[in-house]
Amino acid sequence: MQHFGHAVMPQATHDEQAMEDHFIGMRMWAVRNLDPLDKRLLNEVVVPEIEARTGDRPRNSAAVRTPLEAHPFHRFWLSLNFQYQDRIWQSIGGSIDRQYDTLRDVVAAHDVTPSGTLTLDPDLNPPRYIDAFDHHRMPGSYHVETADDDFRAGAMYDRFATTYLRNHNGGWRNDGRGHTIVSHVRDFYPDLAVERILDLGCSVGHSTVAIAAGFAGADVQAIDIGAPMLRYAHARAEAMGETIHFSQQNAEATDFPDASFDLITSSVMLHETSASAMRTIFAECHRLLRPGGVMVHLEVPPRREHLELWEQMRCDFESHYNNEPFMAAISRTDFAEVAVRAGFDPADVRVGYRKGVTEPRVDREDFFTAGDPEGRTMLGSWYICSAIKR
Ligand SMILES: C[S@@+](CC[C@H](N)C(=O)[O-])C[C@H]1O[C@@H](n2cnc3c(N)ncnc32)[C@H](O)[C@@H]1O
Repeated sequence: MQHFGHAVMPQATHDEQAMEDHFIGMRMWAVRNLDPLDKRLLNEVVVPEIEARTGDRPRNSAAVRTPLEAHPFHRFWLSLNFQYQDRIWQSIGGSIDRQYDTLRDVVAAHDVTPSGTLTLDPDLNPPRYIDAFDHHRMPGSYHVETADDDFRAGAMYDRFATTYLRNHNGGWRNDGRGHTIVSHVRDFYPDLAVERILDLGCSVGHSTVAIAAGFAGADVQAIDIGAPMLRYAHARAEAMGETIHFSQQNAEATDFPDASFDLITSSVMLHETSASAMRTIFAECHRLLRPGGVMVHLEVPPRREHLELWEQMRCDFESHYNNEPFMAAISRTDFAEVAVRAGFDPADVRVGYRKGVTEPRVDREDFFTAGDPEGRTMLGSWYICSAIKR
């Protein structure tokens, strides 16, 4: 069998690959063919019905949820979205169980003479927003361990992200977000001397590896709540030849001393934390940055104010049905206000959309925009909040 990706990546048999392809194909078919029909149902049937009944145009997705969900076609759309994702998890879960012992040996082999480190904290209690449910219905979420030295969650996440995003975020490396962060730093903070980096909520290190490569020679620390993610991340980084120091910590209260870092990053972590945790994390970033240091947080794009009604509903779907309870709220959160409350000067905070790239690219004008002047949605971009500490 031809090896796919890096040395630690779970490998699919012919039949497992066919199953993954089937469900991802189903997803892409639905996006292309059913999403436009659901949008027409909303705009051409449901909205006019509401206008006729109330005399008012519905202003946001909350106002259309109940009438839209009363339509059989939309219920079909909802259940289909639910289905294919669960089936991909199931298919990948079975594949990992089949090869778990082999993978365990591969993970262990990468910890024999590592260049990076792994520090776990068995006493760390995951916050409620992590352990109360399975994120995006990933069985066991990021932290559950069912065996000694369990890395299953990391293996699941790596394989799922590769399947789900296919070639949209850098292929099997899934490093587009990391490259986007590196590009952002080069564009807006070209004089920043980067010797110490901290990546928060690193997961399996998809973005961390790209950030480490982008600032070669820097000391890179990466933290996450989930021990299984970190064990896998450590082996994966070693397999990919990057020196990264992973530790199990809560981004709200780390054990690093004040002013430890030149650059602090996070990538699609904040939408999985609560609103109050996000404030605490920004304050922790302020504490951990040295004067002149920079934080960069990259998030999933939808800003409520830039989305049409159907896209707002699509974002709500994540919260209502896909175990992303904070997604809808974060699309309304004023990141700049959170940064200022955490101690950053308003003049030093920058928010906007940045087109995703799969290799670092310095192109500030084309690649960063505060909003969408033409009212189109900014899907295909990431939303970034960055700030420099005085
Ligand atoms: C979607 S994943 C992040 C993916 C990764 N940053 C990337 O770009 O590929 C979110 C991660 O954030 C972690 N996380 C959430 N809240 C955290 C917290 N308070 N402290 C540390 N990690 C956290 C989760 O355990 C999970 O692994």
